[in-house]
Order: sequence, then structure tokens, then C-alpha cells
Amino acid sequence: MAGSGLLEGLMDNRAIGIFDSGLGGLTMVKKLLQLLPNEDVVYLGDTGRVPYGSRSVDTIIKYAGQDAEFLAMHNIKTMVVACNTVCSVAMDNLTEAYDMPIYEVITAPATAAAKNTKNGKIGVIGTAATIRSGAYKSAISNISAEFEVYMAACPLFVPLVEEGFLGADNEIATKVAEQYLKSLKESAVDTLILGCTHYPLLSDIISKVMGEAVNLIDSGAETAKLVASDLQQKKLLSDAKPEGEIKYFVTDSIDGFSARASRFMRSDIEGKVQQVTLD
Ligand code: DGL
Repeated sequence: MAGSGLLEGLMDNRAIGIFDSGLGGLTMVKKLLQLLPNEDVVYLGDTGRVPYGSRSVDTIIKYAGQDAEFLAMHNIKTMVVACNTVCSVAMDNLTEAYDMPIYEVITAPATAAAKNTKNGKIGVIGTAATIRSGAYKSAISNISAEFEVYMAACPLFVPLVEEGFLGADNEIATKVAEQYLKSLKESAVDTLILGCTHYPLLSDIISKVMGEAVNLIDSGAETAKLVASDLQQKKLLSDAKPEGEIKYFVTDSIDGFSARASRFMRSDIEGKVQQVTLD
């Protein structure tokens, strides 16, 4: 439904659709709502099939298509693919299929890392599929071929987050992080892109292992800034009520998701989460 009154045509009160394989995309939603608190959001977490990052490209494309189709049925004005794994292998399929702005989460953090680095050494961590795709390496090289890019796949990070192994003192998550991040530490990167929207939930641990001098770049938060300014420029912001409404959909049971998402979003979302089937 479009806006009304004097500003008719300059705004759009439909929701923003956002999807990820699970909880991770909420790191993006949280930042976006800080910037645009009166936007409605429809969030889909494909918790029944998480993690995506260890699956084949064909499977990720198929899942991404079903996720996007689900959101498209909810009268949305735009879509944010809050999953680096999907963005690294399936963006073309999505942008060709829908006539609305669709945002990916790779370009904005690559740009932020390029601005931030002092020694030109940028680290990227992500799922196996994201790292294998080389999407970050090309995004950074497109900015300048001078940067040295060091990458590491961290396939256990997403399951750790989904299972709630998050606290700074969590010994298992710390051990896993020490092993995954060893080569990046040795490469002396001064900037590390968290190339998976789940990873900011482990940022205390990642920062402890890498050392505080290494700046962590959050792919969801960087993209949220870009989405906010782009929607404003395109005159697609909402002029509705003071606070937007978020509807959460998941493809597995709602219990674990509700509890963890409530803790992360710092609001009780129980009652706002529905379980759905996608195929
Ligand atoms: N948050 C997703 C990403 O950004 C996780 C993918 C997965 O499920 O492995 O890559």
C-alpha cells in the first residue's frame, strides 16, 4: 500500500523482506531497525535447512529461490538477502526473477574494509561456499588490485551460533575460532570481514582470538546502512506509525529460535514467530 497525503508517491509503506538460513540475518535486521525504526519487516529464517554454507551451489540456488518466493508473497517493496552464502552464488537468479530492489551483503562490507585497512591486508571469513565462490576476493579486487586478501572458511561457526554457543567465555567456540583464525593471524591482517551474517554473534570470541587491534567488519550492519540510504534516495521509505512491526517466519520449530532471537533482539518476540513450509 503506498503512502498517502501530501507525500503521496514519495514513500512506500509496504514491508522490507529479509531472509537468511537462520538467526544470522537478525544481525542485519537489528541494525536496519536502528536506522529505520518505523519500517515493517518480514523476516524468514530457513532454520529447517541451516546451514546452507556446506551445500552445493545448485542446492543453495534452489533454497534461495524458495526463500525469495515466500517473501515475495508478502507484499514487500524490497528484499534483502541477508546471507553471504546465497549472495555469493545465487544473486543473479534472484535479481532476474523480481522487479524490486534486491540488496546483497557483500559489496558494502568489502567497501568498508577497503576504507578501513591501513596495511592493505584484509581477512575474510565465511562459510565454505562463500569462500569457495571467491565473491569477496573479486569484490575487494574490483576496488583495488593492491589489497592482499586472506580468506578462511569457518564451517562450524553457523552451527555454533544456531546452538547458542556464543558467550565470550565459551570454551568450545573459542577453541574452534583459534583453529580457524590461525592463518589469518599469521598473515597480520588489520581488518577482518565477518563474511557471514551469523558471525557478529561470535564477535567477542573472534575479537579475543584476533586481538583488539584487528577491526571487524560486520556484513549485515554495513549493508543496513547502504539499504537505509538507498531506500531514502529511491523514496521508498515508510511514513507509517512510529514503530514498525516485525513478522518472523521459520521453517523449523519456533521454540529455540524464539528464545535466542528474543535475547539477541532484546525484545520478547514470542508470539510473533510462525513456522512455515517452503516446498
Ligand atoms: N548467515 C549465512 C551467511 O551469511 C549462513 C549460511 C549458512 O547457513 O551456512 O552465510
